[in-house]
Amino acid sequence: MYTEHTSIQHAAALLAMGKVVGIPTETVYGLGACARTPEAIQKVYTIKGRPATNPLIIHISHSAAILEWATNIPNSAWILANHFWPGPLTIVLERHSSVLDVVTAGQNTVALRVPNHPLALALLQEFKGGIAAPSANRSGRISPTTAMHVQEELGDAVEYILDGGPCQIGIESTIVHCRESEVRILRYGQITHKELSAVLGFPLTMDSHTPIHVPGSHHSHYAPVSPLFLLESKALSEKISSCIAHNKNISIISFSEQGSLVPSQYAHRINWIQAALDPQIYANNLYAWLREMDNQNPDCILVETPPITLAWVAIQDRLQRASYRK
Ligand code: TXA
Ligand code: MG
Repeated sequence: MYTEHTSIQHAAALLAMGKVVGIPTETVYGLGACARTPEAIQKVYTIKGRPATNPLIIHISHSAAILEWATNIPNSAWILANHFWPGPLTIVLERHSSVLDVVTAGQNTVALRVPNHPLALALLQEFKGGIAAPSANRSGRISPTTAMHVQEELGDAVEYILDGGPCQIGIESTIVHCRESEVRILRYGQITHKELSAVLGFPLTMDSHTPIHVPGSHHSHYAPVSPLFLLESKALSEKISSCIAHNKNISIISFSEQGSLVPSQYAHRINWIQAALDPQIYANNLYAWLREMDNQNPDCILVETPPITLAWVAIQDRLQRASYRK
């Protein structure tokens, strides 16, 4: 059974004891642990089933705390931190020598972020230290956007999940690597390269060859258990007809209306989500939709490809990974 927890003091005390805590952020829920306690970090890897080669983001309470975790900090990082924090931007920098190897997976860089959620910020202030937190899902699965999802994902392995309501953004932060005037995007998120370069005053480095290793950017990620197909509207219509002909149970996320693609006598056999053509509303709902659909165990999940525009890049990225099959 789900019990709502909201005590900042209790969550901070658990972190100080080396325990893990579910944490709300504006992007997705995190599985937090004290960033200075190796045993606590180890629990995060074990609970998630995360490969030891995949480093964690350290959440801090304010920009100046960068100095405790990173070194040789370029001006670009300060500009981005001062503009976008608290917010959905993670900045990868050269690590400070004191940062635990288990957090950075042995890399010489560290990922930092100030989350924009009142409970996360209150917890960081109460705890008075960095909180290492990956998304609170089992490795490779859909990130949780409510406290209840965290419990569904991780069950009794996490004794306390701080409930901050549904996440406002719904997909993970944009990650950038800052080195002098070379700023590269390592993971797409709500903050686009256009917004970043407008604030920096110079273009981002866009070549696909990145010297930085992002172990978490596997092709297959954010994946439901049921196979997910990402299809243009014509292919979607054909796939629906073929599924109906083969008596399959299907779940669909589409921009088109159900009546235009499914004969009315079959409508009851299909779990249809009519998506708004607004990337922020879509991102906000995407993981909850996929989770809800997956729970019904359909033969497949069909998703209509979103527009190929900058505002949809992060969503395209997540859907492509969710649909990737080896
Ligand atoms: O919105 C978010 O970023 C959420 C919330 C909880 O803050 N966190 C999140 O963490 O998405 P996670 O661990 O699920 O994804 C972090 C990604 C991984 O792909 C990891 O490989 C990459 O960041 N990463 C972490 N540290 C890195 C580093 N030093 N260099 C390059 N990539 C790094
Ligand atoms: Mg994740």
